[in-house]
Amino acid sequence: MSTTLELTRDAIAAVDTAGQLQDVLSMPDQLRDALWRVESAGLERHDAPGGLVVAGMGGSAIGGALARAALGDRASRAIMITRGYALPAWTTPDTTVLCASYSGNTEETLAAYEAAGALGARRIVSTTGGKLAEAARAEQVPVIPLPGGFQPRAAVAYSLVVALEVAGLCGAGERLHAEVDVAAAHAERLVEEWSPDSGEESLAKELARGLHGTVPQLSGAGLTAPIAYRWKTQINENAKIPAFACDLPELDHNEIAGWEGASELGRFTAVFLDDSDLHPRIRQRIELTRGLIASQGATTYRVDSVGETRTERLISLVLLGDLVSLYLAVLRSVDPSPVDVIDRLKRALAQG
Ligand code: PA5
Repeated sequence: MSTTLELTRDAIAAVDTAGQLQDVLSMPDQLRDALWRVESAGLERHDAPGGLVVAGMGGSAIGGALARAALGDRASRAIMITRGYALPAWTTPDTTVLCASYSGNTEETLAAYEAAGALGARRIVSTTGGKLAEAARAEQVPVIPLPGGFQPRAAVAYSLVVALEVAGLCGAGERLHAEVDVAAAHAERLVEEWSPDSGEESLAKELARGLHGTVPQLSGAGLTAPIAYRWKTQINENAKIPAFACDLPELDHNEIAGWEGASELGRFTAVFLDDSDLHPRIRQRIELTRGLIASQGATTYRVDSVGETRTERLISLVLLGDLVSLYLAVLRSVDPSPVDVIDRLKRALAQG
């Protein structure tokens, strides 16, 4: 465990053997490539009065949650994210179900794909291959092909854009194609600001050092709620430490009381993800909650989204969180890519 280690490209490469850093830094290109891939898939524009269900797990599900947040009140129909084997009881032939699995072999998503077929819902698949691609091809279900070679969670630009584009195509939300394209250019500037080539005082490195040796508690609201969850899961999988996420204002009604005993149990940090468009009372709550938690001895951070549009601001915080999780892994001398315990669990389940 080192806090003094400089987060240079060489130091990162010594730990990040699969080169996940480059996958994160290439997010702007992936956003553009994802737009192109959806367009090339030639999906039929249609009307889904029953809304959109995004069925997936982990790194494949998060894109749906982020897409819903990017749309905000530009969503005109229900968009629901299901992380499990079943679909909502209200799924009908009027519902579009996007089955998202990077590997194509995730059993929950395969079960949701089957369930959607049984209910007569319109299905769309996004995957690199596996059993999901096989089943979709056999049943002439359209497939948006994803590029191979990423950790599923590092393909977040793809899962976000695919869900956004499918929402636009089925009438669940406005099409944000142009907004994504502009956000990609914006993200390029942020990559420069937060990449390892930036100074040791860059925000991404500073946050990683601040969270190092602590249990991070992430909080968000509205646009930033699914991003707080993304930070939590990225910190879990890349840095391999516990981290937790909760939403405001809900946490002000329960979790805030738990901070009273935090210092007896270990070192915790609280990160509040802020956005200029949050409800003014939420923004006030962030400051008040921070103050109350800090008085219990916890270190707290308030991190602002950067950008004009919702998509720019959302991507800014996703990019920042991904880099923080990678830098944290390096500070812990942990290779961010392998998630052996998840693989072991999946293998054990596959044996029946
Ligand atoms: O990031 C990961 O590796 C996981 O969260 C996976 O995304 C999750 O296990 C689901 O797998 P897949 O994305 O291949 O469906």
